[in-house]
Amino acid sequence: MPGFELFGDAERKEVNDVLDSGVLMRYGFDGMRNGHWKAKELEQELENKLNVKHAQLTSSGTSALNVALAILGVGAGDEVIMPTFTFVASFESILNAGAIPILVEIDDTLTLDPKAVEAAITSRTKVIMPVHMCGSMADLDALKDICERHNIFLLEDACQAYAGTYKGKALGTIGNVGCFSFDYVKTITCGEGGALIMNDDKLAKHADQYTDHGHDHLGSDRGLETHPVLGYNYRISELNAAVGLAQIRRTDEFINIQKKNKKILKDALRAIPKVSFRRIPDEDGDTATFLSFFMPTAELSLKVVDAFKEYGIDAYWNYYDNNWHYIRKWNHLKDLNTLFPLSDQIKKGMQNLNTLEFPKSDDLISRNISCLIKLSWTEEEVKERAENMVKAIKSVIQ
Ligand SMILES: Cc1ncc(COP(=O)(O)O)c(C=O)c1O
Repeated sequence: MPGFELFGDAERKEVNDVLDSGVLMRYGFDGMRNGHWKAKELEQELENKLNVKHAQLTSSGTSALNVALAILGVGAGDEVIMPTFTFVASFESILNAGAIPILVEIDDTLTLDPKAVEAAITSRTKVIMPVHMCGSMADLDALKDICERHNIFLLEDACQAYAGTYKGKALGTIGNVGCFSFDYVKTITCGEGGALIMNDDKLAKHADQYTDHGHDHLGSDRGLETHPVLGYNYRISELNAAVGLAQIRRTDEFINIQKKNKKILKDALRAIPKVSFRRIPDEDGDTATFLSFFMPTAELSLKVVDAFKEYGIDAYWNYYDNNWHYIRKWNHLKDLNTLFPLSDQIKKGMQNLNTLEFPKSDDLISRNISCLIKLSWTEEEVKERAENMVKAIKSVIQ
């Protein structure tokens, strides 16, 4: 999903502004900064672009999730519902909050299955956390409806889906809070960085404080600021924000290239009846960072993976055996291999994770292949790739 593919003068200019002033921190040093406030400017650009009242930058997508859970008041003994297919940051952030990750099945959107979510709700459920994997979104109407009926927060992990939309609204703005990652391999990058967005003023104030040791950010002497709440250091640096500032202005350029490239590949694969595609609840809002499709059986999808190698296709995944993204290989989570003692509530809440089965997720993930869409391909290269993908798939189904 990489904006880094098209790195250039715009990024260099923003970074040089920061280096020239020498102020690498987002707060203070007003007199030395030559008027440069890259983090503040990037927050403003995010708010304008996504049509949301507040954006708070953080040091990473993982820290954005930590902050989001904290400002939603998630803590000891609370349950957070998350999907079996995601990135390890989902359960890391929940455990970091002292809460219990409740893993549930996905559906053909490759994220939370609303029926499984509803069945998993208990009196302790505080948050439902859909993860908009591989650039496209969850079934947000259904999930929002569940949240409203049960009085539960909706936290969108849109780390992989910045600039996606759902029924005309930016992903991340449908729930109470939305999170983004701007790490090196995301749609736009800061190198390392993240953000959370929200419309609620109180949540935004807490996000501002919590990301910076609880500082109230009032007045002009950092040492005299008060700390209305406990907080931590989840700050982004000005250098990282500067890169993101150049990249955010290129969002439409990146998304348009991805959409064009994805369409060529998807249209080619449509001609193969045994290929079916991931359900995208709002096709117009897809960021087109990935093309995700299913083969009819797990066996066939492994054969396609091998055939792709033979035909020189790169950058695709079958996540069934992946250590980062799918529950099957999260042994450190299932065995609770932490460096420190966990609460009895967490241990009790997670005691069944080693034996729980997720047949629907296993079926979908084992049959799925997700192909990265690159920005740097020429049209000829995409067309050649499409031809080779079709040939590779046909070679295993005949
Ligand atoms: C779905 C999802 N959530 C959270 C994260 C964490 O983001 P970061 O790497 O910026 O901490 C990632 C990163 O890959 C991700 O894919």
